[in-house]
Amino acid sequence: MLCRLIVIFFVQSIEWTRSQKTLSLQTGASVTVPCHYHLKYIQHKKYWCYDASSAYNYCRILAYANTTQEKVTVSDNPAQSLFTVSMRDLQKENSGAYWCAVEIGGRYEADIAEQLYLRVDSDPAVSVLESRVSGAEGSSVSVQCLYSAAYKKEVKKWCRSIDWTCYTVGRTNTSQNSAVQISDGGEGSFMVLMAGLKKTDAGWYWCSAGYLQVPVHLIISGSATRAVSPPAGVSVCLLKTVLCSVVLVLMMCAVLTVTSKRSCSSHMKNTHNSLLLLF
Ligand SMILES: *[C@@H]1O[C@H](CO)[C@@H](O)[C@H](O)[C@H]1NC(C)=O
Ligand SMILES: *[C@@H]1O[C@H](CO)[C@@H](O)[C@H](O)[C@H]1NC(C)=O
Repeated sequence: MLCRLIVIFFVQSIEWTRSQKTLSLQTGASVTVPCHYHLKYIQHKKYWCYDASSAYNYCRILAYANTTQEKVTVSDNPAQSLFTVSMRDLQKENSGAYWCAVEIGGRYEADIAEQLYLRVDSDPAVSVLESRVSGAEGSSVSVQCLYSAAYKKEVKKWCRSIDWTCYTVGRTNTSQNSAVQISDGGEGSFMVLMAGLKKTDAGWYWCSAGYLQVPVHLIISGSATRAVSPPAGVSVCLLKTVLCSVVLVLMMCAVLTVTSKRSCSSHMKNTHNSLLLLF
């Protein structure tokens, strides 16, 4: 019951490298790992599976979505076709192969899974100062990724988790507004600066050096421009004022017309009709 057959699907050769994620983690620390799934699996059960050696296509289910088992919490977020796995108090013996998995159903049917490795170390080769950053729409955020001396010459990247688009050292304009700039001081850390943040930039990223990764969650808070725009009630009130002013002017006109052209009844009637239309 606790073991399920896992078959890892490699749709393209690029899927292989993508599945070779190795997370660099610190002893005693916590981690939250994003697991993306296809929209068609929105109704399926998700789980987090472990096998120390990853020698076989079998693994031990540590927790199902929306449950907590010991130090593992799995939370499904169907709106983002994503589930997250949080593990706390990581120890060296927690190192090994894990799978983000989607249950397909049948007893002998293989589930769909993505494999990743966790490497827990008292002195991790790659780490981040903050694994959760937030910024307002239009503003910028910076993330500092740290690496050990052994990784000085490795390729440093900042990758979006959902589609695995990566940015390397230098500046890249992602679209009209947001831009990603990565600068590597060469002294044990590289800085990622994301400027002109957009709502669509929110989500999960990876700080990467060589084959090691560390997840970072970017949260985009509401923009400043939204706060100053008047609430709907104000414009309704304004409309009423304008309407009342127009009516008042028209009524004054009507009175003037009546007093100056008391004899001309046809004109009076016209003014009267216009007033009725307004109400
Ligand atoms: C898990 O919780 C999320 C959000 O609370 C909910 O939308 C989802 O349907 C739940 N999934 C399961 C399998 O219970
Ligand atoms: C990015 O945009 C800025 C400002 O619009 C421009 O100065 C810069 O040359 C662009 N860089 C690239 C790599 O396209």
